[in-house]
Amino acid sequence: MADALKVGIAGLGTVGASLVRIIQTRADELSRTCGRAIEIVAVTARDRTRDRGIDLSGITWFDTPQALAEKADIDVFVELMGGAEGAAADSVRIALTRGLHVVTANKALLAASGVELAKIAEEKGVLLNFEAAVAGGIPVIKALRESLTGNTVSRVYGIMNGTCNYILTRMEKEGLTFADCLKEAQRLGYAEADPTFDIEGNDTAHKLSILTTLAFGTQIAPDEIYLEGISNISIEDIHAAADLGYRIKLLGVAQRTETGIEQRVHPTMVPRDSVIAQVDGVTNAVAIESDILGELLMVGPGAGGNATASSVLGDIADIAKSRPGAQQVPVLGKPAATLAPYQRAQMQSHEGGYFIRLSVEDRTGVFASIATRMAENGISLESIVQRAKPDGSEGSKTIILVTHATMEDSVRKAVDAIKAESYLAGEPQVIRIERPQAF
Ligand code: NAP
Ligand code: HSE
Repeated sequence: MADALKVGIAGLGTVGASLVRIIQTRADELSRTCGRAIEIVAVTARDRTRDRGIDLSGITWFDTPQALAEKADIDVFVELMGGAEGAAADSVRIALTRGLHVVTANKALLAASGVELAKIAEEKGVLLNFEAAVAGGIPVIKALRESLTGNTVSRVYGIMNGTCNYILTRMEKEGLTFADCLKEAQRLGYAEADPTFDIEGNDTAHKLSILTTLAFGTQIAPDEIYLEGISNISIEDIHAAADLGYRIKLLGVAQRTETGIEQRVHPTMVPRDSVIAQVDGVTNAVAIESDILGELLMVGPGAGGNATASSVLGDIADIAKSRPGAQQVPVLGKPAATLAPYQRAQMQSHEGGYFIRLSVEDRTGVFASIATRMAENGISLESIVQRAKPDGSEGSKTIILVTHATMEDSVRKAVDAIKAESYLAGEPQVIRIERPQAF
C-alpha cells in the first residue's frame, strides 16, 4: 500500500471537528477505498484548551494556521476557518506556494481570490478542491466542473443557503419568529460566524459567483451580483404568499443572456407545487440547465457539520486516489488564465411578475391612486386586493398587488411614486415571482 496521505487541518469548529471524527472512525474503510491511509498529523484553531469532543492525541498542534501551512510535514492543507482575508487567505496562499494540495470549504475566500489561488495551484501542479464551499453536501462543483464538460450551460439557480431556507421554512410551518429561527440555525452549526452573511444574501452570492465561473467560464465576479437578503421578509409576506399559492425562497440565479451573464440573489415567490418550493429546512437545491443533458436538479443537505465534512472528505479522498504527476482537472473547470472577463447582462424583463405589499392608511381614493401609479409606469396588474392588517389594527390596511411580467425598473419607479404620496403607513415590500420552467 502507498504511504499515508498526511493531512493538516486549520479550523476545528463545526466542520473541522466533524471531519476529524469521521476520518478517525472510518480510518480502515477509507484506507481500503483510497488505497492508502488518510492520517491527520497536524491541526490548529484559536483556542488550544477548548474541549471539542475529538481525540487530538498524537496530532501536532500548531499555534497559527500560517505556521501549520509553512512548516508541518503534510501533503494536504485543509482550511476550515472561514473569512475572505486574514489567516485563511494567508495560510492557503502559503500552502499552495509551498506545493501542497489544498481543500477548503471557504466560499468567501474563493469568491474574493479564487482565480488568483487557482493560478497558483495550477502553476504548482497541485489540487485546490472546494466541493463543500457550495451547497454543503451536494456534489455540485464536481457536476459542473467535470460531469457536464461539453455541455453549454444556460442557467444555474437554486437554494444555496441552508440558514435562510431553515428560517423561512420554520417561520411558515411553525409560526416561529425570525430571530428565534436564526438562533436555532446558529445552535445547529448552519450559520456563518457572522450570520448577516447568511440573512443578507452575501453567502448565497459568494456561492453563486463560484457556480457562475464553473458554468460559464468567466472570471469570478461577486460584486456584479444584484443582492437582496431575507431580513425584511415578514410573517405577513409569508402568509400572503401562501394565500396566493406561493412559497418564499432565497434564490441565487445565474443565466446567460444575449448581452452577458445575469447574476442575482433575492427572495423569490415560487409556486407552491413546484419542486423547488418543496425544498425545506437546511436542504439546498441546485438546478442546472444545459444543452446536452437538459435539466438537472440536485437536492441535499446544504449545511451542518457532517454534510459539509462529507464533501471535504470527498475532496481529500480524491487527492489520496490521484496519481503523482498525473494531469489535474483545472481548479475552475478551465485553466484559470483562460477564464473570460465577466460581462454583466443588461437589465432583463422579468417574466414572472412581482408581488407588492403596501401598508396604507384607510382613506378614500388610495386604491385608485395605486392603480394609477402602476398604469403610469406601464405595469399591468394581475390582481389587487385589500386586507385588514393581520393584527386587526384600525386605521391602516394592507394592499397586495400581483403584476404581470414587467421591468424591475418600472416597478421601482411605481413604488417610488407611491412612496411620494401621503397615504403609506409603512415601507413597501417587493418580491419577485418566478415560475421555474423545469422545477
Ligand atoms: P466555526 O464553527 O466557526 O469554526 C471555525 C474554526 O476556525 C474554529 O475552530 C476556530 O477556532 C478556527 N479559527 C477561526 N479563525 C482562526 C484563526 N485566525 N486562527 C486559527 N483558527 C481559527 O466555522 P464552521 O461552521 O466550521 O465553518 C468553517 C468553514 O466552512 C467556513 O469557511 C464556512 O463558511 C464553511 N462552511 C461551513 C458550513 C457549515 O454548515 N457550518 C457549510 C459549508 C461551508 P476556535 O474553535 O478555537 O475558535
Ligand atoms: N452558512 C451556510 C449556510 C453554510 O447556511 O448555507 C453552508 O455553506
